[in-house]
Amino acid sequence: MTIEIIDVQVPAAWDDDSEGARRLRMLVDVRNAVVVDGWGGDESHAFSYREAWAQWQSQVGESDDLRTVALLDGVPAGRGYASRGLLEGTTIAEVDVMVLPSARRRGVGAALADDLVARMRERGATTFQAWVDHHPEPGPTMPSPTGFGEIPAASAQVALLQRYGFELEQIERASELRLAAAVPALAAHRADAEAHAAPRYRVETWEGRAPAERVASLAALHARMSTDAPSAGVEHEAEGWDAERLERYETSQLDGGRTLLRAVAVEASTGEVVAFTTLAGQGVAEPWYQHDTLVHGEHRGHRLGMAVKVANLLALAERDPGGVVRTWNAEENRPMLSVNEALGFETICQGGVWQRKESAA
Ligand SMILES: CC(C)(COP(=O)(O)OP(=O)(O)OC[C@H]1O[C@@H](n2cnc3c(N)ncnc32)[C@H](O)[C@@H]1OP(=O)(O)O)[C@@H](O)C(=O)NCCC(=O)NCCS
Repeated sequence: MTIEIIDVQVPAAWDDDSEGARRLRMLVDVRNAVVVDGWGGDESHAFSYREAWAQWQSQVGESDDLRTVALLDGVPAGRGYASRGLLEGTTIAEVDVMVLPSARRRGVGAALADDLVARMRERGATTFQAWVDHHPEPGPTMPSPTGFGEIPAASAQVALLQRYGFELEQIERASELRLAAAVPALAAHRADAEAHAAPRYRVETWEGRAPAERVASLAALHARMSTDAPSAGVEHEAEGWDAERLERYETSQLDGGRTLLRAVAVEASTGEVVAFTTLAGQGVAEPWYQHDTLVHGEHRGHRLGMAVKVANLLALAERDPGGVVRTWNAEENRPMLSVNEALGFETICQGGVWQRKESAA
């Protein structure tokens, strides 16, 4: 039995006959097979080649990434991913390994992890982090050190992470909203939120790129996501956002074939964006993903979180009345969870945020 690890670079295209595009598709196939298996066969958790390609492209210059495929006796058996920030957090590396169910317990996961950790260490990483979906399973549980949430303790993932010295830092709740069931209550939520927000704030929605007059304040607000969202003991550095970074984010979604829906709250007296929320998805019959939501610290307490979320969901309902929206939130993020619970989001899985800190050499 031989395990060979090959690198996958960002190819110029995802759909041609080049070796690079072939490797991208091989990696995405492995990733999708593992994720769909983890979700009990639910294929809506798969990503398209194009989505992956656009995401990879957008990270060039922003992060130093390693993408690998493990071949077990010449056949794809696992995939590795590691990413170290280039703009901030340059000593922090995210790592993720996935092994096909048919190839487990043969050292593939450890081989992928050893390779990623060693190479990221060489590039200066001293903190390693992993974001892992922990699907419900019977048996003992492990509580979050934050005091909020717990995960199944007896899984292969937990065993592998602990073997590598990772510690659980935080638990996220993955939850899902079914629009058809939620829509009847949305009008009442909107009326209530707007009654609190008006006339000081007004809500705007759009599809695609931000209008020019909203770019500067929206970019500034994006930066606050890295400092204002609860991060427990998870090491991170404040992100700097400008118009170009906002544009790169938009490109990463639009070039992947996704539709981007935004709702913002604008302070009428200044014209500044003070709250925003984002939905991204491939379109009807595909899931929608809730990306960042944030209300500026000086503008909290006016139900702007609910106002922007409900406006975006109503905009989505016009396009995809049967849509499903997925979101991940820290279990200790009570303000955000309260909004989501009121809207009708229901828990589908727990996400563990794991970390291993090494002292700098
Ligand atoms: C976690 C995962 C990557 C392990 O892959 P794998 O190829 O089976 O792992 P390995 O064979 O290299 O095992 C390495 C070590 O992890 C631990 N381990 C892995 N699977 C285990 C299991 N089912 N039970 C107990 N320990 C396990 C053991 O310590 C093992 O070493 P050992 O075989 O010498 O006892 C795989 O189960 C997987 O892809 N799961 C779903 C995706 C995922 O959650 N990825 C994130 C993982 S952090």
